[in-house]
Amino acid sequence: EQMDYSMAWLSYRKIPWYPDREYFRKIYVQENEAVIHTAAKELSRAAEAMFDESPQIITILKEAPENSSAGIYLYTDKNGPGNGGYHLYEEGGRLTITAEEPSGILYGCFALIRKVQRQQPLKNLDYKEVPDNPLRMLNHWDNMDGSIERGYSGDSFFFKNQELLINERTADYARLVSSIGINGVVINNVNVKENATKLISEDYAEDLKQLAMIFRNYGISLYLSLNFAAPMELGGLDTADPEAAEVRDWWEKQMKQVYASVPDLGGFLVKADSEGRPGPFTYQRTHAQGANMLAKAVKPYGGVIIWRCFVYNCTQDWRDRKTDRARSAYDSFSPLDGQFEDNVILQIKNGPMDFQVREPVSSLFGALQRTRQILEVQIAQEYTGQQRHVCYLIPEFKEILEFHTCCTKERDTVADIISGRAFPQFAGGITAVANTGSDTNWTGHDLAAANWFGFGRLAFSTSLSAGEIAEEWCECTFGPDKEITEAVCRILMMSWPAYEKYTSPLGIGWMVNPHNHYGPNVDGYEYDRWGTYHRADHYGLGVERGSKGTGYAQTYLEANASMYETIEDCPEELLLFFHYVPYTYRLKNGKTLIQHIYDTHFEGVEDVQKMIALWNGIRERIPEDIFMRVSERLEHQLEHAKEWRDQINTYFYRKSFIEDEKGRKIY
Ligand code: GCU
Repeated sequence: EQMDYSMAWLSYRKIPWYPDREYFRKIYVQENEAVIHTAAKELSRAAEAMFDESPQIITILKEAPENSSAGIYLYTDKNGPGNGGYHLYEEGGRLTITAEEPSGILYGCFALIRKVQRQQPLKNLDYKEVPDNPLRMLNHWDNMDGSIERGYSGDSFFFKNQELLINERTADYARLVSSIGINGVVINNVNVKENATKLISEDYAEDLKQLAMIFRNYGISLYLSLNFAAPMELGGLDTADPEAAEVRDWWEKQMKQVYASVPDLGGFLVKADSEGRPGPFTYQRTHAQGANMLAKAVKPYGGVIIWRCFVYNCTQDWRDRKTDRARSAYDSFSPLDGQFEDNVILQIKNGPMDFQVREPVSSLFGALQRTRQILEVQIAQEYTGQQRHVCYLIPEFKEILEFHTCCTKERDTVADIISGRAFPQFAGGITAVANTGSDTNWTGHDLAAANWFGFGRLAFSTSLSAGEIAEEWCECTFGPDKEITEAVCRILMMSWPAYEKYTSPLGIGWMVNPHNHYGPNVDGYEYDRWGTYHRADHYGLGVERGSKGTGYAQTYLEANASMYETIEDCPEELLLFFHYVPYTYRLKNGKTLIQHIYDTHFEGVEDVQKMIALWNGIRERIPEDIFMRVSERLEHQLEHAKEWRDQINTYFYRKSFIEDEKGRKIY
């Protein structure tokens, strides 16, 4: 069949010789449950595409009888792994996938398909996987006119002309995301305006119902972003005060209606009192009052309210050195710990600023101990190359998840907190701002699909390494060809450090063109209202966030607070985030700060040259169209990296008057 888009890592290739195809002649399914049915269908699809095998699907009553014949057996088992986990094993010619829940069977089937794609032997296989995070979500910032806020891969495939799009691609999207373990999807932008406010009205009820059904068959819950001012904009009330009885009644009525059409709607995501969006502050109410009011309205239906902590003053004065955007989420939300209903989950961006290439982990992680939390990351690469530069972010996400918050003696990492290992009754999960659109390859840059795939895999199993995930993605996408895997994984693994080297140094962030956030502009945000400064002068640069500065370092728990406070102990990659440092300051490797800036900027460009050489080396092995698309982007990345290098180096040379020790060209 001819499609105008690829199936990314689910583009099955023919496997000419695969002894283990034998198993795929018969699939025994224990029951006709929708998700298990989906699972069996996915297995047949894969078998047909990879080795022209059309399995017979046989319904059995209970688990496989003794001495039953070879084949694949799918059945739920009360004693099997729960919460979407599965057990996949081979014994005497039978491949079995058991799980407590149907979704576990589906994830097990996709895991099996990955093994076949990688042509791994299935004999004696014994593999268990249980998801670490209850919630594994994607947030689409799609608008109903079809545009995508910070979208770099075409238009929305969820909306067009104020309507929902529900077609083959919707189903294929569901296949792709469930194959990596995603179980919740927010389809509309957090900035809910105009028609998007009406998504909760009768107008869209029928469409949502259909979409939810497609998702449901793949174990995915549908979520919507919500407009806090909907009682006014949609309901015609003259207030949205969360404590007003008429507002409460309106929400209750509205939720009753929404849940009547989609009974298993996951819930709602809310951006309130942030960047001009309405919220409880207008009525002198707290975020807890706002969130709890909505939470009560969805509670009868098992829904959740996901409330974002991305709240800060975006009308700051650059002359003011006391107000610090980095403090904002902490200052707004840490006093509210313990005040939220149990179906409220706070969604916290990974860092205190906004998805920069390097930021410390938000100090809210660890500070909140009686609140459910979702970690929000962004695979859309808004500030990390916008899917034109390769920037494989899984190594970054690993560092964030492994960060020790010091909130408990053991089990104190971000991964421990969100998964519910640190504070068991407060489990949450992880979400990513999505990087997909209507482009034929879904993600614009073909290698950006590794972030999409990798995010899902990491959300499911946070102990996988970034390298393992890269390999898995690569072999599913391009086949198990050692040379491709080696080259592509090296490109991916060097890409985030490279991007960090040729852009803004040592955790300072920003230095981008305002609005589109693409390309270098050192002072682009220096004298503006967004609270994003580098404070460079002729002597040094960096923002003093220790106790002599804004005090942000002190919002961390000990020992982190002292570590960030003390310039000698502060991790060097974050030095300029926490401290104002002279250009002549010597780093641990003996280099001065200014020399470090020069060196890393030259190195970053060289790294991109190495990536291009690696890519060229596998030209014959990669499908022509993909090869060309990636090559073009790599060439652009190289030119753009040079622009970054030259602007940053020149800027600091002109400020500092200090020559490059190596005498390279600086303008
Ligand atoms: C960033 C981004 C905005 C977005 C916001 C958010 O600031 O530039 O486009 O709306 O994050 O996360 O809400």
